[in-house]
Amino acid sequence: MSHNILILKGDGIGPEVVDVAVAILQHMGLDLNFSEAKAGYACFQEVGDPIPQTTIDAARAADATIFGAVTTPPDIPNYRSAVVTLRRELDLYANLRPVHSLGLTGGHYREGLDFYVVRENTEGLYIGQEEDFGDYAVAKRLITKKGSERIVRYAYELARHTGKRKVTVVHKANILRLTDGLFRRTALAVAKEYDEQYGIEVQELLVDTMAMRLIKDPQNFEVIVTTNLFGDILSDEAAELVGGLGVAASGNIGEHGAIFEPVHGSAPDIAGKGVANPFATLLATVMMLQHIGENAAAQRLQSAVAATIRQGVLTPDLGGTANTARVKEQIISNL
Ligand code: NAI
Ligand code: MG
Repeated sequence: MSHNILILKGDGIGPEVVDVAVAILQHMGLDLNFSEAKAGYACFQEVGDPIPQTTIDAARAADATIFGAVTTPPDIPNYRSAVVTLRRELDLYANLRPVHSLGLTGGHYREGLDFYVVRENTEGLYIGQEEDFGDYAVAKRLITKKGSERIVRYAYELARHTGKRKVTVVHKANILRLTDGLFRRTALAVAKEYDEQYGIEVQELLVDTMAMRLIKDPQNFEVIVTTNLFGDILSDEAAELVGGLGVAASGNIGEHGAIFEPVHGSAPDIAGKGVANPFATLLATVMMLQHIGENAAAQRLQSAVAATIRQGVLTPDLGGTANTARVKEQIISNL
């Protein structure tokens, strides 16, 4: 079956890393139809909008989107972030972050990890409802039963399809009694269903304990599910355990679209130098392939990326001497 893939290259190193992904997908001979649309700061300078409606519509129509990175200028009032707008417009409620050891060394790297952080992507403290009262300011935190149920269900379905046996529900219901109370109750009801039907175990952890346990015994986690802000923080903490920004990939997934992207930004300091690390984008591409059901291809690409890392063909940010083109060449030869 043919799949329609939208390419949003973005700014800075976005085009450099996405071009590698597209070249590799084309080399793999899959039945994919690529189309391209514009998003980001260069797009804003060209057409006056960082995320034109035509791009939003194209992402909605595509089976999946690969997104590079965009530059968000700090000094333009009311500027809207391309990726945040896409998440909201397409209701991409699940933010998925795999935490998978690939044989890197150094830093906080830990071998043998293979788990997911699933973050609710549309509500919580990130709804942008803040009010300034002069000497104090208030941010609203929205938790809904519907939003909680669908993210926890997503986490359990992920567990089921990836052979995981445990889901860890993370909250702070002892303090945030109403909002996280609702999240917790809803999560535990879903958990009961999956325990009875599939024998998938539930574990509950308070977010502060979770932050410690991620460092202390990360090998004990399989799928972690939590609300927006907690997930934002924990997923970056977890990413450090397997190599950090250079290999961190994410998916934003909903009923009306799915966008796969590296976690890093547009890296203006190295843009145009040919040394951008494409691994994170390629791991996002692996997630994209899994999402469209091309599981064999996903496995093949993941193995080629892992082999390239083990062979030490790494960009400078990972301590190597290879440039972007060299990494691409090595991955193609490992496919
Ligand atoms: P950044 O992630 O772009 O860069 C941080 C540091 O990591 C820089 O030293 C950069 O050279 C390095 N780096 C990042 N990705 C790399 C790669 N693939 N290969 C080699 N080195 C890499 O974050 P920063 O500097 O805070 O933001 C730069 C721009 O990116 C800003 O305009 C920011 O708003 C935007 N941004 C966009 C995101 C997105 O599109 N999803 C996410 C984060 C930031
Ligand atoms: Mg973040």
